[in-house]
Amino acid sequence: MDYMVVYSSRTGNTKQIAREIFSALPGMSKDMQSIEEYTGKDADTFFVGFWTNRGSCDMSVIDLISELHGKKIALFGTCGFGGDVNYYKAIEQKVSVWIPDDCEYLGTFMCQGKMPMQVREKYEIPMEDPTQETWRKKMLQNFDEALFHPNETDFENARVFVNKTLE
Ligand SMILES: Cc1cc2nc3c(=O)[nH]c(=O)nc-3n(C[C@H](O)[C@H](O)[C@H](O)COP(=O)(O)O)c2cc1C
Repeated sequence: MDYMVVYSSRTGNTKQIAREIFSALPGMSKDMQSIEEYTGKDADTFFVGFWTNRGSCDMSVIDLISELHGKKIALFGTCGFGGDVNYYKAIEQKVSVWIPDDCEYLGTFMCQGKMPMQVREKYEIPMEDPTQETWRKKMLQNFDEALFHPNETDFENARVFVNKTLE
């Protein structure tokens, strides 16, 4: 098979991006599975999706990536924080480090994804330290912006990523 899309998604954001990536891949020699479904289907090129867990990916993604050998690997991920290229880069570094040396790394696509309401509730409580208030309000603003992601622009960017990656 040419392409395999495997993704880890707890609340559906990364799954939405996975669908876009899958549909943007050319030809018929392709498949998509969640990481829970994935039992080792082989392909030349893997697109591996992750949700951001404390600045990296979850263990199931690390296990998957580390066991791929001699493959081309592209990554895609969603995270709660948006619009910060340096933050995206830092996540990319933490995840791509698990790609074995005998694989060809093709790059990473990142975008923002909505978070569970409990996260907002945490930020709604004023901080005892008033100097932290600016930060707290920023977190609330970020949360509210994230509610609209992934959006159509993110989907389009994911498709562009696929096209550029395969060029
Ligand atoms: C336990 C946990 C840890 C998270 N850690 C981060 C983080 O470090 N940075 C971040 O930007 N988002 C973080 N998030 C937010 C998710 O990565 C984000 O909502 C993502 O889009 C969820 O993807 P999914 O819907 O595919 O599960 C975290 C979410 C959870 C539940």
